[in-house]
Amino acid sequence: MKNSFPRFGAVLIFIIICSYAVCQQQGPNKEQYRPSYHFTPAAHWMNDPNGLVYYEGEYHLFYQYYPEASVWGPMHWGHAVSKDLLHWKHLPIALYPDSLGYIFSGSAVIDHDNTSGLGTKQNPPMIAIFAYHNPKLEKSGSNQYQYQGLAYSLDKGRTWTKYAKNPVVPNPGIRDFRDPKVIWDAETQKWILVLAAGDQIQFYSSPNLINWNLETSFGKSLGAHGGVWECPDLFPLEVKGTHDKKWVLLVSLNPGGPNGGSASQYFVGDFDGHQFKPDNTPTRWVDYGKDNYAGVTWSDIPASDGRRIFLGWMSNWQYAERVPTETWRSATTIPRELNLIRENNEYLLTSQPVKELAKLRIDSVKMRLTKVNGAYDISKQKTFGKSPLEIIITFNTKNRNSAGFAKKFGIKLSNEIKEEVLIGYDLKQKQFFVNRKKSGKVSFSDAFPGIFTAPWELKGNTLEMHLFVDEASVELFGQQGRVLLTEIFFPAKPYSQLSVFTEDGKIEVKECEVWKLNSIW
Ligand code: FRU
Repeated sequence: MKNSFPRFGAVLIFIIICSYAVCQQQGPNKEQYRPSYHFTPAAHWMNDPNGLVYYEGEYHLFYQYYPEASVWGPMHWGHAVSKDLLHWKHLPIALYPDSLGYIFSGSAVIDHDNTSGLGTKQNPPMIAIFAYHNPKLEKSGSNQYQYQGLAYSLDKGRTWTKYAKNPVVPNPGIRDFRDPKVIWDAETQKWILVLAAGDQIQFYSSPNLINWNLETSFGKSLGAHGGVWECPDLFPLEVKGTHDKKWVLLVSLNPGGPNGGSASQYFVGDFDGHQFKPDNTPTRWVDYGKDNYAGVTWSDIPASDGRRIFLGWMSNWQYAERVPTETWRSATTIPRELNLIRENNEYLLTSQPVKELAKLRIDSVKMRLTKVNGAYDISKQKTFGKSPLEIIITFNTKNRNSAGFAKKFGIKLSNEIKEEVLIGYDLKQKQFFVNRKKSGKVSFSDAFPGIFTAPWELKGNTLEMHLFVDEASVELFGQQGRVLLTEIFFPAKPYSQLSVFTEDGKIEVKECEVWKLNSIW
């Protein structure tokens, strides 16, 4: 009896140490559906990416965050930084709600010349301009419950001071008035602020980020108007292969997306610091998928890099609060490089996975030229069924008009309990598709199961699909980033099998390479 307590104590301490070690080892990505390489908050609710800005070797990612539950609530700005766009370090909450309201979406810039006077030239301020949403004013019946505020940081985004005379853009009497994105326009030497006002966009200009003048409004009878406009972004891009400069205006829309619910459209045109004049009139979508919303691009990427890097919220307001993850909700998309090409007499915005992602590749398997009729199991070659995976597959479509050519073909992710996601091309309907009807848990929302499509007319002799698969998502970059479909899913058991499938005929796979990807944890 005398000796048993120390022994018991030692055993207890041993058990505690072991459980701690196991917890450490498991890390957050061992929770079911926790992505291996997509950004997620450590806990609780996240929606839009905010304040994307690069400064002194760090990519900053702020995001709409509710730290007290895994559903939307009084919004804060969560914060994380990365040196490589892959591995993220969580930092303390950057902005808290205050007497002016919740902190809704917005952007951040580096005020290099200290035009605001809030820092010095030696230590330029990082400036966040965001929407305030005042729930008390909203309840009181006022229309003027959203306005734009400013906060600044002099220590690389670690601590923030709200500007004493907020708001910097008061509400002009428009109910939905939010999501300011600020850019420096080198040509007119002015700051430009673009925000969503109802189902239109407004452009403001300023010499100092504090005093803003309304320039123009845009979009009254252009683009899709199935819902309210949100989270705009405006930036110039050089048209690939030329020195022509065009301006791209991204506009998120909810609802009214091409496959239901939230989605983002874009316009290509000219901007002179005062007015945006679009070249395209038909509606163009950044991504046809249901799960890429409120995406915006990084500010202050060094000229030596020169990329326009985009990040979206990988969910949809139709079901974002009901997806079957418990300790956290939502992930971002992978970072994507945007480019502009001119084809068939029009401008097309392309999205490609950022090149940094190649660093996650561990091991790969290549498929030799193979005819597939029905199904071909790629995962058999190695144990390559399980996510995280990257797949690049090219089909030979030369004989697509001959008898016996598959009507539908693509990639299938599946598990032993017959849950599956099909990602493919439909020859008859002329569209890419993702079918997640039988993907696993789908019943939490009627809007979740379905076949989601992106129109694409085949012209050449090949069709390429580049896929990024994680525990709970697939991102399709079709035809070198010309057509996008991003979809999330929740299988009861992880998908363990990867195959090429065809329906009603056969297909020739010209090339297929599959990489196992590393986890970022
Ligand atoms: C878009 C959005 C924004 C708003 C934020 C609130 O998803 O509705 O318009 O600022 O989310 O969290």
